[in-house]
Amino acid sequence: MDTQTIVILDFGSQYTQLIARRIREQNVFSVVLPCTAPLAEIQALNPLGIVLSGGPSSVYDADAPAADPALLKLGVPTLGICYGLHFIVHHLGGKVRSGAKREYGHAEVTIEDSATLLFAGLPPTLQVWMSHGDEAEELPAGFHRIAISANALAGIEDAERRIWAVQFHPEVHHTPLGPQLIRNFVFNICGAAGDWTPAHFIQTTVEGIRAKVGVGHVICGLSGGVDSSVAAVLVHKAIGSQLTCIFVNNGVLRKNEFQSVQKNLREKLGLNIVAVDASERFLSKLAGVTDPETKRKRIGAEFIAVFDDEATRIAKQTGGVDWLVQGTLYPDVIESSSVKGPSQTIKSHHNVGGLPLGMKLKLIEPLRDLFKDEVRRIGRDLGMPEDVLGRQPFPGPGLAVRILGEVTPERVALLQEADEIVVAEIKAAGLYAEIWQSFAVLLPVMTVGVMGDQRTYAYTCAVRAVHSEDGMTADWTPLPYEVLKRISSRIVNEVRGINRVVYDITSKPPGTIEWE
Ligand code: XMP
Repeated sequence: MDTQTIVILDFGSQYTQLIARRIREQNVFSVVLPCTAPLAEIQALNPLGIVLSGGPSSVYDADAPAADPALLKLGVPTLGICYGLHFIVHHLGGKVRSGAKREYGHAEVTIEDSATLLFAGLPPTLQVWMSHGDEAEELPAGFHRIAISANALAGIEDAERRIWAVQFHPEVHHTPLGPQLIRNFVFNICGAAGDWTPAHFIQTTVEGIRAKVGVGHVICGLSGGVDSSVAAVLVHKAIGSQLTCIFVNNGVLRKNEFQSVQKNLREKLGLNIVAVDASERFLSKLAGVTDPETKRKRIGAEFIAVFDDEATRIAKQTGGVDWLVQGTLYPDVIESSSVKGPSQTIKSHHNVGGLPLGMKLKLIEPLRDLFKDEVRRIGRDLGMPEDVLGRQPFPGPGLAVRILGEVTPERVALLQEADEIVVAEIKAAGLYAEIWQSFAVLLPVMTVGVMGDQRTYAYTCAVRAVHSEDGMTADWTPLPYEVLKRISSRIVNEVRGINRVVYDITSKPPGTIEWE
């Protein structure tokens, strides 16, 4: 089954990924390539349409991001957005100038040519989002204006050359009718079938994995999180018993997590899982360590050692392992190929994926084309349980970065109890799904309290809950007082060893989500 593809060329706009998402929401597959992608690479995808994204530069800047202008001669339907419009005008012989009156933010656009396919079904005026100072002054031959705003030209077309462009951003939420414009482009102009559904994705991916792997053996590291679980289930669907998953208890998982992940994925979904309880190995490596980075390094190194041992054992049993599954997602793929420079890749150290195994394994990354919410949709279609798909992110070094100071078995046990209460109460209040992460942190601070007639001297626990889109920035969540009250009273009453609960009201930046 072929997949129809719309190619988006990224000129550096903060909204480029949104364009991809808006197109995919129409069940049409889209990929983001850096604007510098060679023409051959674009053509190899046999694109049904091309979108030129916005970007912060001006076409006359010395370092203006440049695509190969020959792509405008391919005859493939093309939509320019903002900088994309300037790029088209500039390279086809028109003129762009710095807008005398810059338009940023909300604006109103009047449609001048209601017959254009791009505006089919839209009213005569549109509320839109503008974010650029430049504007087209002279149009290239063949183009005409199809929309204006108070201060500037807002849309152009050359139907013969099959090129359309708008000055505003149809992909953002602040352009309420933007989805209709995107639909017009992908369906009316590009003629997309809209058949990129979860079922289609699953079928093509499963076929692809089968063809790739043949009779080889595959291993996959499970973390219990959404990505590795969905990746494993997809590969399992493709090759069944040729896949062995490795799930390591590093001693700093949540309470009962080691059992519940096995139950969900082995018993409910039939995965072949080797579950290794290496808690003691990890905890002995963490003894006496208080520095956060040292904790991360020791856990990372130990994980690789344990994984390597298991992989070697599996290789002996199966006659060799050839492939490793990784749950890489599309945002990581875009970031690593992006033209935006290092400032955009702050999170790379968080990707614990890299496993420098002694054996040379080839990679299977079944999710590398998907955004997180799409992974969840696929997981749902695969019949995976909601408590796997809806799970909040959990860091690789687990509770170790939530136990400030030394990680000891006693402290892990205390934090597991407190954490379980936080999660349970947030779930009971119906807030779990809308919160990005909610958890407890164990502080190495002892305070005095009273319990009945007894004086207590015990640990302090911080509760943290944040809203976030992607973990890069976050706002602390104003949890309802009632929920905070229940969490606090349950922790103090039920967890012996903690007698004080505080709430963290720090956003990121300047804080981070984790305390270490
Ligand atoms: P911070 O604390 O940097 O966290 O604001 C951002 C996101 O990354 C997660 N995180 C980690 N994930 N290994 C991981 O796999 C790590 O060392 C790590 N540190 C932070 C954190 O939970 C949040 O989602």
